[in-house]
Amino acid sequence: MSTRSTVILGTGSYAPERVLTNDDLSKMVDTSDEWIRTRSGIRERRLAAPDQAASDLAVPAAQRALADAGLTAADIDLLVVATVTPDMPMPACACFLQAKLGIPSAAACFDLNAACSGFVYALDTACAMLGSGRYRKALVVGVEKLSSVVDWQDRTTCVLFGDGAGAVVVGLSDEPGRGLLGTRLGSYGESAELLCIPRGGSRAPATPESLQSRDHCIKMKGKEVFKLAVRSMDEAARDILEQHGVRADQIALVIPHQANLRIIEAISEYLELPLERFFVNVDRYGNTSAASIPIALDEARRGGRIKRDDLTLLVAFGAGLTYGSALIRW
Ligand code: ACO
Repeated sequence: MSTRSTVILGTGSYAPERVLTNDDLSKMVDTSDEWIRTRSGIRERRLAAPDQAASDLAVPAAQRALADAGLTAADIDLLVVATVTPDMPMPACACFLQAKLGIPSAAACFDLNAACSGFVYALDTACAMLGSGRYRKALVVGVEKLSSVVDWQDRTTCVLFGDGAGAVVVGLSDEPGRGLLGTRLGSYGESAELLCIPRGGSRAPATPESLQSRDHCIKMKGKEVFKLAVRSMDEAARDILEQHGVRADQIALVIPHQANLRIIEAISEYLELPLERFFVNVDRYGNTSAASIPIALDEARRGGRIKRDDLTLLVAFGAGLTYGSALIRW
């Protein structure tokens, strides 16, 4: 077991070109820009092209993270991809991405499904594996093509989601007290069906009828999810701060999962930390599930909002209902 710190060496992100505005959506379903903005804070989202699968979205994000870290694909011996929208149910999106990037065959490559908390789970997993001393450099990716599982006739869900990818390169450092200081992960499995894709898995394989009823698409009980989201994110944030003896006002920047501006505002109120300390880009991308935190992290770093020695708090929740937080010292 290594006692070295696990640090983020580089970040990258990618958002597909096509922009779908709230006004565009109001021509597809009975909704309005005003309703979407006031209920969710979302103004627009990006959509992948029909021929872009999740691994295609992940390639530019991963390449940017590698370049930022001053490394190449040949240096990576661990690839963890957090996604609920892999290219295919089998094999893993990570294997397609490995081939596209040219990551060596001796690298461990796998997907991880913790929905919108996926990136925090994947970061923790990669750091633990690096900490074991058996791996040296990890690429951790959060990527989604949610547009492929959204029911475009359901106004209660289709206005919320978008496509994108984010990535970080993680390595070991001899500097103590830096990098990933800790995580707090959890899950309310009893609430799994509040947010799910009911058909297409082993419980209920897809049928011609289920395609008609769009049961292979995201179904969500929004109000219940909202309440659990606020509760679990608040709990995950408080617990990790307490575990590390850190006060909320010592956090330079919170990077929350970007699902809904009202959820972020509620967390800001509960933690008594002004909204200016929260990174927000949900207005431009909507909810990109596992991609949301690594995209925000990359934009925050490149925008100069993270400096050396800063403490950053990542906090997420998602289908499962999973939740998680991570504390990072830069
Ligand atoms: N346009 C116009 N009206 C709408 C729309 C829409 N797009 N969607 C719903 N409505 C209507 C509803 O039908 C309802 O009408 P009714 O009162 O006549 O029945 C009314 O607006 C209010 O609907 P609510 O569901 O009460 O609206 P709410 O204020 O709860 O906001 C929302 C809905 C935005 C979905 C909110 O509940 C939410 O954000 N929940 C959390 C969802 C979330 O974050 N999910 C992501 C989880 S992460 C993952 O793993 C994918």
